[in-house]
Amino acid sequence: MSTKEHPAQPSNETVTAAPQKPKKKWGPTLTPKHQTERQQLPIYQARDAIVHAIKRNPTVIIVGETGSGKTTQIPQFLLEADLAQFGAIAVTQPRRVAATSLARRVAEEAGSRLGHRVGYTVRFDDMSCPATKIKYLTDGMLMREILADPLLHRYNYVILDEAHERTLRTDVLFGMLKQIQKERARMVQVNRAEWQKSHSDKPTGPDTTEKQLPDSDPAPTNGDNQATETNDTSVSTSDKRSKRKFVNELKIVVMSATLDAERFSEYFDHARILYVAGRQYPVRIFNAVEPQNDYLDAALVTSLQIHTEQGPGDILLFLSGQEEIESLEKLLLDQRSQLPPNSMDLLVCPIYAALPAAQQAKVFNPTPPNARKIILATNIAETSLTIPGIRYVVDTGVHKIRGYSSRIGIESLLVAPVSKSAARQRAGRAGREAMGYCYRLYTEDTFDELEEDTVPEILRCNLAAATLQLKASGIDDVLGFDYMDRPPKVAMLRALEQLYALGALDDQGKLSKLGRWMAEFPLDPSYAKVLHASQELGCTTEVIDVIALFSIDTLFFMPFDKREEAAEARRKFMHGDGDHLTYLNLQKAYMEVKGDSSWCHDHFVNGRGMRHVQDVRKQIRQVCQRMGVNPNASCGTDFDKVLQCFIRGFFNHTALLQPDGSYKSVVGSQIVHIHPSSSLFGQRREAIFYNELIFTSKLYIRGVSAIQANWIPEAAPRYFQQKSHMLPSQS
Ligand code: CDP
Ligand code: MG
Repeated sequence: MSTKEHPAQPSNETVTAAPQKPKKKWGPTLTPKHQTERQQLPIYQARDAIVHAIKRNPTVIIVGETGSGKTTQIPQFLLEADLAQFGAIAVTQPRRVAATSLARRVAEEAGSRLGHRVGYTVRFDDMSCPATKIKYLTDGMLMREILADPLLHRYNYVILDEAHERTLRTDVLFGMLKQIQKERARMVQVNRAEWQKSHSDKPTGPDTTEKQLPDSDPAPTNGDNQATETNDTSVSTSDKRSKRKFVNELKIVVMSATLDAERFSEYFDHARILYVAGRQYPVRIFNAVEPQNDYLDAALVTSLQIHTEQGPGDILLFLSGQEEIESLEKLLLDQRSQLPPNSMDLLVCPIYAALPAAQQAKVFNPTPPNARKIILATNIAETSLTIPGIRYVVDTGVHKIRGYSSRIGIESLLVAPVSKSAARQRAGRAGREAMGYCYRLYTEDTFDELEEDTVPEILRCNLAAATLQLKASGIDDVLGFDYMDRPPKVAMLRALEQLYALGALDDQGKLSKLGRWMAEFPLDPSYAKVLHASQELGCTTEVIDVIALFSIDTLFFMPFDKREEAAEARRKFMHGDGDHLTYLNLQKAYMEVKGDSSWCHDHFVNGRGMRHVQDVRKQIRQVCQRMGVNPNASCGTDFDKVLQCFIRGFFNHTALLQPDGSYKSVVGSQIVHIHPSSSLFGQRREAIFYNELIFTSKLYIRGVSAIQANWIPEAAPRYFQQKSHMLPSQS
C-alpha cells in the first residue's frame, strides 16, 4: 500500500460572525445537552451571517463541510429568528433515510414531537401536520406538493439540500422553484403597486405593505420578506379582503458540502454564496497497490485487519447497495466468532434506504466500551448523514446509479465507479473528530482516472417519470424547460414517446386523464400503468403484491455454502411462468405463516425484506383506496391477467426467442440474457418480459416472466402501430 495525506479542504471566502446570544422566541426550551452540542457545531459561529444573508437575498447558496450542521441547524436558525411566521420551511433530501432520520434528530433538538412542529414526508410515510414548521422531505415529495399547490404557498423557504447530488428530481425542482419564486415575486410586486395606486390619495397612508394586511393575516416584520394579498384588480381592497390569499416571496437556499458554487450561483440568477468553515482533521489515505478482483473480499479482509491491528475508532465501509451490505454483514458476523480472544467486540450496523427506521437508528447509538462498530453503508453516509465516532473509512470506490440508454430506450441500475469528489467526501468522514485513515480498495491510478464529479442523473436516466411530473405541474414545454444541464433532445423525445405509448399523453402531447391519474401515484409511470390496467383486468390485489415484492433487491438468499439447500427451498415457490408469479406464490406462503421469521430463515427468504414489502404493499393499497381503486379485486387463479397487466406498462421491456435460443429485445433489438437468479434461467419460451436490465459482463435481465408473443402488440397499440419493430407476424 502506498500512502499520501488527504488534501485539506479549500476554505475560500469564509463566514465568520461573532456568536450572539441565541434569541429564544420559538419552541420549548432545549435540553442542555442538545443546546451545548448545537453551539459547538461549526455553523453556529456563522448563525447571524447566514440568517442575515437569507433575509437579504431571494436565493442563497451555502457550502459547508459535511457535519458542520447545515441541515439540522439552518432551518432552526430561521425559526428562532422569527423569519418563518408566515410559511413553513421545506428541506429537501435526495434520500428518504436522510429525511426521516434528520427530522427525528431536529425534532429532538427542538423539543417537538416528531410530526408536529418538526416533521417529515417521504413516499408512503407522512409524519407532518398543518402546524409543521420545519419539514424534511424527499425531493420527489416536494414535486408532488407542487402538483397540489403550484405556487407552494404553504412554504416561505425551500432549502434544497445535497444539491451536488444532482438527482433527476432535484434538477427538475431547481427549474420549477426558480419559476415559482419569480411568479410569487411578481405577485408581490403587482399587489404592492395596486395598493399604492388605491392609497395614493391618502396622505397618511402606510409606507410598507405590511400595514395594509387584514388583522387575520400574519404581517411580515421586515421589507425583505415581502408579503401581500393576491391581486384582485376588479374590486377595492376592503370589499375583497375575505377572498384574498396571503402571498409572500419564496426564499430558496441551496446547500451542499461539495458543489460548484459558481455554477449554481449563475443558474440561480447570481445568487449570493456563503462558505462556512468546517473542522477537518487530516486523513491518511492508503491505496491498494494492485487492482482488486473482488472488492467485497478485499473489504472483508481490510476491515478485519483494521479491527485486529488498529487503535479504537469505528469503521465506515462504503458499498454499492443493500445486496452487498447484507452479504458482507453475514460474512462479518461469521468471522466475528473467530477473532482472537483478546480483541474488541465487533458490532455490525448496516444502513441503507430500505432498512427499517429502528435499525437505521442503531448506527447513531454510542459504541459501548471495548467494542468497535463497523457501519456498512451505501453513499447515504457520504454527505447526507454524519455518523459520529468514525476514524476509519474503507472505500470500495463504487456506488449504484441509474443509467439510461436513449438509443435502445431502456433503463438499468448499474454499479459504477464513484467520482473523485465522492471519493474525497468518503475519505473526509474519517477526519471529523480526530486524525483518521481511509483505505481505498483501488489503486492510485484508478483514482486518477475517475471522473471529477458525478454526471447529473438527468443526463443518464429515463426521463419519463420526470416528464410526467413536469406535465402534471403544468409545464407543457418540457423541451424548453429551464434545466441546469439540458438532457439530450433524443432522450426527452423518447420520454414523450413512452408516455404517449403508455397513454399518459394525448395526440397533442398534453397530459391525458390517464396521465393525470398516473402522476398521482408515487410509482414510476410503467408501474402506475400496470396498476391502472389491473382495474380493467380485475387483478389489482395480485398486481399490488407483485409491485411491492419488486421494491426489494433480493427476496431469496443464496448463501455460498448452502446453495443446494437454498435452491431446493426456492423451488417450492417456483411458478413455471417466471419470477412475477413465483413472487406471488412467495407472498401467499408468507401470508399463510403470518410472516413467521423462523419460516423465512428455513426457506432462505429475506425476512427483513419481506417485512418492508408488507409495508410498501399496505401503502400502495392505501393510495388505491384514496384514488377510488378497489385493492381487493382479484383474478383468482387466472394469472395470465397479471402478466398482461405488466406488459401494458413494460411493453418496451419485452424480448422474443430467436432460433439459436437467445432472446432479442423487441425495442432496440439487443440480445439480452436471463439472469441466473431468475426462475426462467436456461428456459426457452416464445416471448418474455422483464423488469430491469443490468449491464455487467453481458446485458442481463432480471424479474423475468414468460408471455405469449401475441400479447405484445395489444399491450401498447399506439406504440406498435407506429413502429415496425421486430414483432411476430400478427396472424
Ligand atoms: O448538514 P451537515 O452535514 O452540515 O450537518 P448535519 O447533518 O446538520 O449534522 C450536524 C451534527 O448533527 C453532526 O455532528 C451529526 O453527527 C449530528 N447528528 C446526529 O447526531 N444524529 C442525527 N440523526 C443527525 C445529525
Ligand atoms: Mg446535511
